[in-house]
Amino acid sequence: MSNYHIKNLKEYFNVYEKSVKEPEVFWEEIAEEHFLWHKRWDNVLSWDFTKPEIKWFENAQLNITENCIDRHLRTKKDQTAILFEPNSPSEDALHISYGVLHDKVNQMANVLKSKGVKKGDRVCVYLPMIPELAYTVLACARIGAVHSVVFAGFSASAVATRIVDSDCKIVVTSDGANRGAKTIDLKGIVDEALKSCPGVETVLVAKRIHTEIHMQSGRDYWLAPLTESASTECAPEIMDAEDPLFILYTSGSTGKPKGMVHSSGGYMVYTAFTFKNVFQYREGDVYWCTADIGWITGHSYILYGPLANGATTVMFEGIPSYPDCGRFWEIVEKHKVNQFYTAPTAIRALAKEDLKFVEKYDLSSLKVLGTVGEPINEEAWHWYNDNIGNKNSPIVDTWWQTETGGIMISPIPYATPTIPTFATLPLPGIQPALMDENGKEIAGNQVEGRLCIKFPWPSIARTIWGNHQRYQDTYFSAFKNAYFTGDGARRDAAGYYRITGRVDDVIIVSGHNLGTAPIEDTINEHPAVAESAIVGFPHDIKGNALYGFVILKDTGADRDQLRKEINQLISEHVGPIAKLDKVQFTDGLPKTRSGKIMRRILRKIAGGDTSNIGDTSTLLNPEVVQSIMDEVI
Ligand code: WT7
Repeated sequence: MSNYHIKNLKEYFNVYEKSVKEPEVFWEEIAEEHFLWHKRWDNVLSWDFTKPEIKWFENAQLNITENCIDRHLRTKKDQTAILFEPNSPSEDALHISYGVLHDKVNQMANVLKSKGVKKGDRVCVYLPMIPELAYTVLACARIGAVHSVVFAGFSASAVATRIVDSDCKIVVTSDGANRGAKTIDLKGIVDEALKSCPGVETVLVAKRIHTEIHMQSGRDYWLAPLTESASTECAPEIMDAEDPLFILYTSGSTGKPKGMVHSSGGYMVYTAFTFKNVFQYREGDVYWCTADIGWITGHSYILYGPLANGATTVMFEGIPSYPDCGRFWEIVEKHKVNQFYTAPTAIRALAKEDLKFVEKYDLSSLKVLGTVGEPINEEAWHWYNDNIGNKNSPIVDTWWQTETGGIMISPIPYATPTIPTFATLPLPGIQPALMDENGKEIAGNQVEGRLCIKFPWPSIARTIWGNHQRYQDTYFSAFKNAYFTGDGARRDAAGYYRITGRVDDVIIVSGHNLGTAPIEDTINEHPAVAESAIVGFPHDIKGNALYGFVILKDTGADRDQLRKEINQLISEHVGPIAKLDKVQFTDGLPKTRSGKIMRRILRKIAGGDTSNIGDTSTLLNPEVVQSIMDEVI
């Protein structure tokens, strides 16, 4: 019997119990019945969190694109696989059928091959949300190359860091990107980045905005003439289940971004299974996730999960506010979207607008609403539920991470009763634990602690590219024999989980993970700056915004000018998303005797909550706290 599609709460509990009692049997049945393998596994799972080493479906062979494309051709050749909705509503949507997707992906795969890309090579993909992005990602998977998609909002130096870290020899980009009424010069950013990436030999350029750009002879090639003349057949590279499928960078609390490495087999099985259940996808439904493919949400739930299920998945190039704040709802009506998955920050931004932007459209096709990326506040939840779901589309508040590859804690719609702000129950195969400060598991309900996962699941990232030690240190050293998520959580009387937020130095701004260290390092590069500390503070739309405390070398400098320069530097080095909303210049920072900045205190000051600043007795310089409070901007 397959446990692939859970339809009610009783079934969820049965399936969950089985997944915990006999995890190998559970996942083996799913893998066996629902996917195409060239060779069966010798062993379902072997794992050791102390090394850490995790292997699923060992020695099995597959190609994920055969599962996502080829095997649907017999029955769904003409069904839309990807429904591309352009930035401008005056441009027609593009219905890319499974048949066309097959041809486009194979052509792209042949182009990559012709440029010397081989199995195991890393390919940097720096593209906007246009069909070529989907084709390129899948083409890499077709030939066993490891894609490293870099979100097209990142700056030149962020792109360069990622290219160098994973040693990409080829970059796929476009002449530019549309973003609402604006355009972005992507190729210019790539040119700038490549000044510090001597290893890159080839740049393939898709045409989107048709501007004049610089093409470096011998390095840069227009994509279209190459793909048009390429064959639409490309035999899939047969991959081991544990071969890397992709690298995706995520911010850490310290140091450079971490290139999380995801596997081929386990990742496929888990994203397909969770897509089916968390969105209750049925044949013929139209599913839309508004994320960018530059993030894990787009990898797992725009491309791989939906395509592995033969679904129709919408890919939207634009932004929610263009040409006006009704754009999302216009698209829902136009394509009769059944499942809609977005971020709390988008909901909060749209909830601020006039309801007429919603009421103009017929949203009755919606059956399931989802959120991801950060805790959703109660007000936003109700606005979403009342106005978008008309109180009859369950909201799935899905908790997961770049590292987890797929959704971990989430309601199953029409099965799990939902409560605002609760991600509710673990999905089958997921064994959460709450830990106390001393590393001991906290049993029972109505408790709060650090969220860990005690048992491996198929889509857990296997390592950090080039730095297995950091993988161990970051995720497997805080608690014995458990994966540490970096989040805090509460478990209520019914066993429901509520994620309370990061417990490390990662700040989530508009759903984007930002590490404090890289931003502070950037600020400290400014010649006038001696030292800095960044904390988050609550923001109506972004969830959190960034507040910088900066010590100057020269206190006489023009402060408004400095604020601009600091943000300019951050924009260039990290990306505009990491700009500071507030910059306070100060004479000192609260530090412990070991020299560590006590961010807890800065967080309180930044959040305007100075009534109870807590214990400052362990500080080296307690007097500095009062002076920072006096200077608050
Ligand atoms: C962090 C991971 C997973 C795709 C997008 C973000 C926070 C994520 C929720 C949620 C509360 C959430 C956590 C997590 N987060 N979903 N439903 N409720 N917090 O991936 O960039 O790797 O960020 O996002 O803090 O650790 P990511």
